[in-house]
Amino acid sequence: MDFKLTEEQIMIQQAARDFAQTELLPGVIERDEHSKFPTEQVKMMADLGFLGMMVDPKYGGAGLDSISYVLAIEEIAKVDASAAVIMSVNNSLVCAGIEKFCNEEQKQKYLVPLAKGEVIGAFCLSEPEAGSDATSQKTTAIDKGDYYLLNGTKNWITNGGTASTYIVIAQTDVEKGHKGINAFLVEKSWEGFSIGPKEKKMGIRGSDTHSLMFSDVKVPKENRIGANGFGFNFAMAVLNGGRIGIASQALGIASGAYELALKYAQERVAFKKPIIQHQAIAFKLADMHLQITAARMLCFKAAFEKDNGEDISHSGAMAKLFASETAMNTTIEAVQIHGGNGYVSEYHVERMMRDAKITQIYEGTSEIQRIVISRGLTK
Ligand code: CAA
Ligand code: FAD
Repeated sequence: MDFKLTEEQIMIQQAARDFAQTELLPGVIERDEHSKFPTEQVKMMADLGFLGMMVDPKYGGAGLDSISYVLAIEEIAKVDASAAVIMSVNNSLVCAGIEKFCNEEQKQKYLVPLAKGEVIGAFCLSEPEAGSDATSQKTTAIDKGDYYLLNGTKNWITNGGTASTYIVIAQTDVEKGHKGINAFLVEKSWEGFSIGPKEKKMGIRGSDTHSLMFSDVKVPKENRIGANGFGFNFAMAVLNGGRIGIASQALGIASGAYELALKYAQERVAFKKPIIQHQAIAFKLADMHLQITAARMLCFKAAFEKDNGEDISHSGAMAKLFASETAMNTTIEAVQIHGGNGYVSEYHVERMMRDAKITQIYEGTSEIQRIVISRGLTK
């Protein structure tokens, strides 16, 4: 593994940084306050090729490597974690899942507009009573010959309201357990598909999270992904890559908060010296820097292994677990370093602290990552 970034990777990092500073930063506090989806900014991200970053150009993507993807998400999440999750779901759950596992016809129909960012996608696995325990899902897709009849509810779906294409995981044959689960490409406009109200959230308030209801939705047979019964393995394989996206989002939240705290600690004077000259504050910053550097290395390692076609279940889980714990610890300390100012929205770090929490929950909680990592130890 080469620790030196290529010219192209540096260029992508810079483009993401410029975009985040000029387009995302100005309205980020307001979007958080009003739970406003960054519609205009997502269009710009599409123009920059950030919504289908790793997709082959022949399907409308930017054809970049996974390290570039980590760098871009980090820069975007430094400023706006909501924009980062919108991007992560579209890239690593939806586009990656379709590109790797769908047939040519499905790719032409669904992947091309998603990779170009003309439409947004969502990935629907979780249910009111089946989050971590994903095989216990109750949504059914019953085989009716030419089509499947889809019934059930999915919960907490990112891009739930803005998406047009949904990957929906459902149980076709309960008797077969996880081997009876299938994944489907579902369109928003289909009869029987309805969207619940937008969730009111602690953080990532610029992203839209909804429950989705399916009532006798007819899904054409040709919209099943892969062979009959492949749906759970599909979901797990896709989530391995997705976890690199969320790890990078967490890394960005952490490094954004660290940079603000470092600057503040050099400017703020208490007891006649900048607070960074108090060792208690300097040591906090040292620990933050250390953890962020380690988190970045784990993200790069997982991305590197992904591009080499290796099994990334272990490295993806390690990156996600460590980066999300780093995001939480770092943002709490960034608020502490800012003192009273850390508690008001103008200084950004309180939002970052609220945003950090979700990275320990979605795409597999920290407890689930430990399960995945520990199971991998004896493989
Ligand atoms: N990679 C590849 N395959 C995996 C896998 C992984 N990480 N984890 C499990 N599998 C496969 C197993 O190999 C097995 O397949 P075979 O039978 O073909 O060998 C199958 O999945 C079932 O595995 P288990 O018996 O281990 O299943 P389990 O019921 O014990 O659960 C689990 C395993 C790891 C806990 C899994 O249920 C899990 O990951 N849960 C978390 C769900 C999750 O991450 N949800 C995220 C939703 S999307 C989201 O959150 C998006 C967002 O916010 C932005
Ligand atoms: P539970 O599974 O009920 O877990 C509750 C607690 O018990 C957790 O601490 C958990 O770690 C712990 N626990 C559970 N099982 C074990 C165990 N075996 N060992 C130890 N501890 C355990 N889902 C999607 O499918 N698509 C999305 O786009 C999406 N976006 C989301 C966006 C937001 C803002 C939120 C809040 C959630 C989103 N989710 C999405 C759902 C998310 O993936 C789940 O919330 C998550 O997987 C946890 O499931 P749960 O909420 O049911 O918690």
